[in-house]
Amino acid sequence: MSFDLIIRNATLPDGQTGIDIACRDGTIVAVERAIASEAGRVIDASGRLVSPPFVDCHFHMDATLSLGLPRLNISGTLLEGIALWGELKPLLTHAAVAERALRYCDLAVSQGLLAIRSHVDICDDRLLAVDALIEVKRKVAPYLDLQLVAFPQDGYYRSPNAADNLKRALDKGVEVVGGIPHFERTMADGARSVAALCAIAAERGLLVDMHCDETDDPLSRHIETLAYETQRLGLGGRVAGSHLTSMHSMDNYYVSKLLPLIAEAGVAAIANPLINIVIQGRHDSYPKRRGMTRVPEMRRFGIAAAFGQDCVMDPWYSLGNADMLEVAAMGLHVAQMTSREEMKFCFDAVTEAPAKIMHLDGYGIAPGCNADLIILQAADPIEAIRLKATRLAVIRRGKVISETPPRLARLDLPGRSPQLDTADYAPGH
Ligand code: FE2
Repeated sequence: MSFDLIIRNATLPDGQTGIDIACRDGTIVAVERAIASEAGRVIDASGRLVSPPFVDCHFHMDATLSLGLPRLNISGTLLEGIALWGELKPLLTHAAVAERALRYCDLAVSQGLLAIRSHVDICDDRLLAVDALIEVKRKVAPYLDLQLVAFPQDGYYRSPNAADNLKRALDKGVEVVGGIPHFERTMADGARSVAALCAIAAERGLLVDMHCDETDDPLSRHIETLAYETQRLGLGGRVAGSHLTSMHSMDNYYVSKLLPLIAEAGVAAIANPLINIVIQGRHDSYPKRRGMTRVPEMRRFGIAAAFGQDCVMDPWYSLGNADMLEVAAMGLHVAQMTSREEMKFCFDAVTEAPAKIMHLDGYGIAPGCNADLIILQAADPIEAIRLKATRLAVIRRGKVISETPPRLARLDLPGRSPQLDTADYAPGH
């Protein structure tokens, strides 16, 4: 029996070592020790970590790489970011949005990031960004899964035509229903928007992913309504609340009631550590709140949680590099998830967990899964996070689509080895 590709001597994210992975016709067909067979290409992983690709379940591809257009965010707040995006929107062109998105997808591929859920603003009556990203989704489909969320950035009720535009976007093929209840004019309107948007998703059989309670106001409790509507409409397992930063500041007694409700409803949580840590707490003096939602506590209640990138070089965030290991590292630090088990979870939070939230088909390392894999210059998931490990090879449907040479320093020190591989510092090496 022959294969298109065999990766030999891999360490898997679950800790198994010395594993060979054989792929044929774009699919993983065997995952076992010492596969004795021929292959069109054989890659020796040399004991390094081989993982399914990174997944980003929260991004804004219509805004990415627009940093400085038409100006920079001076205050660094969410609200100035939204205002700045409002200034940029009328200036957008289809070609410019598509070009920036395609450039970001190139970067994503080089970082082993092969599935992205992107919100797309539907408040511009032209739906220009929607059309541009639908075109990009089609173009990148051979190498990257792009899932689009209809996102009423200026408010489902607060923006005059958002309700109509959202339906038009869904009719064009946008597959997830978004929302932003904390940006509506009143708490009551926010709650109404959650109910209306969940009803649309239920009627159309779509997933839901709302920006929910992205504020430091402990009384912003739209997650409660999102959990309630999810349960009432039988949408469990199909709904995510993104950000949920108000939970950071909520009263502990209320949270002790809320967490079981979220778990019971089957609502997933998506934290965006890089953005939360720079945007939340902006109105505080000292101490400044971190603002990220309560991920360790959610895990204790069995709530599915993942980390997203949210922004790269746009009106809200000037940095970022499509590096989901940077996202995982920030989440780990902000939530103080430093036990071995918690650090491994932080790797899952940018791979397996978001893949489940996005309902990706064929994700994973097992016979029958898509032959989508990354080889990292690291021995295990914790080391991958620690080193922001180099993506030595990125494989899509059994074909290498990106390669990066290992990071090695050349030293000139008396009596010392001339070559330093940072991964050699891992325990057990
Ligand atoms: Fe976002």
